[in-house]
Amino acid sequence: MSRAGLDKDPHEVAEMFDGVARGYDRTNSVMTLGFDRRWREMTRRVLDLRPGERVLDLAAGTGVSTVEFAASGAWCVAADFSLGMLRQGRRRRNRRGVPMVAADALRLPFADESFDAVTVSFGLRNFQSTVVALREMARVVKPGGRLVICELSTPTWRPFRALYTNVLLRALPVVASKVSSNPDAYVYLTESIRDWWSQRELGELIAESGWDDVAWMNLTFGFAAIHRAVKPVRALGAGVR
Ligand SMILES: C[S@@+](CC[C@H](N)C(=O)[O-])C[C@H]1O[C@@H](n2cnc3c(N)ncnc32)[C@H](O)[C@@H]1O
Repeated sequence: MSRAGLDKDPHEVAEMFDGVARGYDRTNSVMTLGFDRRWREMTRRVLDLRPGERVLDLAAGTGVSTVEFAASGAWCVAADFSLGMLRQGRRRRNRRGVPMVAADALRLPFADESFDAVTVSFGLRNFQSTVVALREMARVVKPGGRLVICELSTPTWRPFRALYTNVLLRALPVVASKVSSNPDAYVYLTESIRDWWSQRELGELIAESGWDDVAWMNLTFGFAAIHRAVKPVRALGAGVR
């Protein structure tokens, strides 16, 4: 079965996720020792959704986070370019009723300023261009709208960082070979984690991509992090002389 490389070719990435879709949710929980549930809950809290708001959950996979966000009464759309992941989500009873859309994060099929918030959980790292995706997300969000990103990150305490890099990331593909239908995909996972931005670097990229008020918080010693930002509201008449 296939796995993507660090060039993150969109066809290879989509095919790889199609291949792991069946057992994805379970494998994810095993690999994160169940912490993924807590991280999703924190993401929901940071999103701070209100009933009636329109929210895009991008790279939503099987929609596991989308259903959690929808419980707030907001109207949540799950978008992903892996049809395999979306189909798996459609099969789950608790995900029925959540709209699921096939969409590429770099060319979203949504009008400008159509959402109050956009969120990505464990997806941004897989996009071929982080900056293009961040700009595209800014396009579809209303001025004053929110961005919330939950992503695997860099442990902040040096001994943990060493343990993570030298032991846990090396063990990951071995564990995956026992629980995943495509262990090779977890070799990609470790490579993409090693190659990913630090919390500060990602914060800078978000700010450079058209977002204001960028802030982040570490989750579980920095193994994951949530970044949030706001789309600037242009002053009335700005640019008009
Ligand atoms: C690690 S999974 C995360 C799924 C889900 N958000 C979760 O929290 O479990 C990453 C997802 O990103 C999707 N993805 C990667 N690149 C994408 C792109 N360019 N456009 C849309 N989805 C993409 C993959 O298909 C996959 O479902």
